[in-house]
Amino acid sequence: MLKKVAILANGGDVAGFNAVIRGIKKTCEEKGIECYGFIEGYKGLLENNTVRLDNQEISSGILSKGGSIIGSSTNYNVFNFKVEENGQVVYKDLSEKCIENIKADGFDCVFTLGGDGTQKSARDFYKRGVNIIGVPKTIDNDVACTDITFGYNTAVSVAMEALDRLHTTGETHHRIMVLEVMGRYAGWIALESAIAGGADIALIPEIPFDINKAVEKINRRKEAGKPFSVVVVAEGAAPKGGTISVKETRNNGEGVDNTKLGGIGETVAKQLQELTGLEARNTTLGYMQRGGTPTAYDRVLSTKYGAKAMQLALEEKFGVLTVIKNGKLDSVPLEKVVGKNKQIGAASGNTEKSNLRKVTMDDDLVKTARSIGICLGD
Ligand code: F6P
Repeated sequence: MLKKVAILANGGDVAGFNAVIRGIKKTCEEKGIECYGFIEGYKGLLENNTVRLDNQEISSGILSKGGSIIGSSTNYNVFNFKVEENGQVVYKDLSEKCIENIKADGFDCVFTLGGDGTQKSARDFYKRGVNIIGVPKTIDNDVACTDITFGYNTAVSVAMEALDRLHTTGETHHRIMVLEVMGRYAGWIALESAIAGGADIALIPEIPFDINKAVEKINRRKEAGKPFSVVVVAEGAAPKGGTISVKETRNNGEGVDNTKLGGIGETVAKQLQELTGLEARNTTLGYMQRGGTPTAYDRVLSTKYGAKAMQLALEEKFGVLTVIKNGKLDSVPLEKVVGKNKQIGAASGNTEKSNLRKVTMDDDLVKTARSIGICLGD
């Protein structure tokens, strides 16, 4: 019998975190189940820092609110945690302490709201006997086994609005306007916003680009009387034979992504200016894509995910992730989601090597982009 549950929001924030929390909490209230939140994701789990959410002021009026009312931590792997001992940095498995906290608090289920890295730790906790249900989050839309993650639609909408604005300034000044969007290893945001925002070129991590193809496209437009172009570049896009643009490297150990990406937009703008003779400007959209209020789509998707997660808990179906498959709510085992990461507490989390869902060349978005002449750099 389910009596008491806890929610844990982990990883980079997205619009929709609170809508999922609300979906779970409201279902709890309907069923008379106590609902708590761990403060700052896995950090709160390790430190046993919780807050009660059902029938409380703190969790009221949160549907449209950006961020997460219970916070979230990034680059936090409790299975391989960075600590200092006698002036030395060492990595420790502190998962047992987390399990003790869950037991001591009497939580019958923990909901893990997060991306690939978060769900990998969730899978590892499940393997150690914790009742876990995951909910797929990330603006990059790259969690395996689901058609869509919450937060993604809002990010695309923000990018689309930016493209609309860049369009008019590019047209006025006869410039090439480059927009660098997020998307570390998957180009969903770049591709979908390029279609929604009428961009001429979209460069994504899945297709190593040839800058000359972009130049050809821009020149063709110039010859046709359009001396301006709009280009979307995913932060993880790289030229053929080149490497991804890393801005900074962190040292948080295994199972977290230690690279901070950025800079490819500037590089592309510079090259296009030199090669076309048109002035080019880059705009990096950054955290605008993650913050703020969720779209109607994300509010509904997040609420559906929250309600489904609770339904699964009531059915005692643990060790799964809520997903959307062919437009329908469903669930899949976490083991399937994190796939190749078999080893507990090691290997890759949200990194290039993990089981991320990337853009495939037979995807409708790729076909549509090609059909209407959006240059994908190949
Ligand atoms: O994974 C989501 C994401 O938004 C990526 O697209 C981006 O590279 C990353 O988070 C940035 O995260 P942070 O700067 O918060 O570590």
